[in-house]
Amino acid sequence: MTELKTTPLTPNFGVEVSGLALADFVPSGRFEELRALFDEHSALLFRRQDFDDAAHLELARAFGPIEDRKADEREEGEEFVIPQVTNVTADSSLAGDIGMHQLHLESNFLWHSDSTFIMPPALTNILTARVVTTEGGATELASTRAAWAAMPSDLRERIEGRGIWHHYSVSRAKISPELAKHPMFHKWPATHLKSVWINPANGREALYLASHAYKVDGFDDAQSVALLDELIEYCTQPEFVYSHTWDVGDVLVWDQRAVMHRGTPWPQEQPRTLSSICVSVTESDGLNDIQLPT
Ligand code: OGA
Ligand code: MN
Repeated sequence: MTELKTTPLTPNFGVEVSGLALADFVPSGRFEELRALFDEHSALLFRRQDFDDAAHLELARAFGPIEDRKADEREEGEEFVIPQVTNVTADSSLAGDIGMHQLHLESNFLWHSDSTFIMPPALTNILTARVVTTEGGATELASTRAAWAAMPSDLRERIEGRGIWHHYSVSRAKISPELAKHPMFHKWPATHLKSVWINPANGREALYLASHAYKVDGFDDAQSVALLDELIEYCTQPEFVYSHTWDVGDVLVWDQRAVMHRGTPWPQEQPRTLSSICVSVTESDGLNDIQLPT
């Protein structure tokens, strides 16, 4: 068996895995090698893959249970549909309201980790490009593990050991108060989670925060927002960031427990479609340890 060939994406985190056909790799029984790289490097890039929906679903299932935010809306017998991040068709509960759909897409331009407002939150997002733009439309990742390790103690001590509250509507309100009122953003009650996620596989710590965060235990509302903003700013300095410019077929997989991400704007008239499957965390990923009483 040949070793996987990896090349660092940045000096601090992330690797490109090359020389393999991802769709064939999972059925060949070598998923554990990818999982080990995921826990070690926090982000994996596979370029220009032949990666259809079936392969996408198969890789996601190898990581764990697929997140299905619309399970409660689906009729009996209706199948899970792979979510798309797209300005082409409005594949969201906001379908039909193009203005709102656009604002919803713009919320992705805020640094976040996916589904911190859902229990269980997301372990990973497996994102693959179907239609790409000629400019803009990059996806950026920021290592909150590397940032946490480098953080000056005065900032670190203000958040260490405290819980953080998250709600879906919070990130939407930063874009538009009207958008934040939509029922889709009020489906889940607030979550209360530790600010540091320890990966049970290797004991590595990472700050766990998102655009959906609004309150830090022990601080008032204004202090909380100021501290969260300061932490996000620290974590997203260039040395902790990888920016990915998409080609069709690229597959990007990241550890939501240790990485924040955001999209970047692109010319509106250009179509852009990414397929996205989130996988939920399970006990072995640290689910029980991260939760605080609500
Ligand atoms: C996502 C996301 C950003 C992008 O799929 O969760 O935030 O670049 N995407 O579209
Ligand atoms: Mn996202």
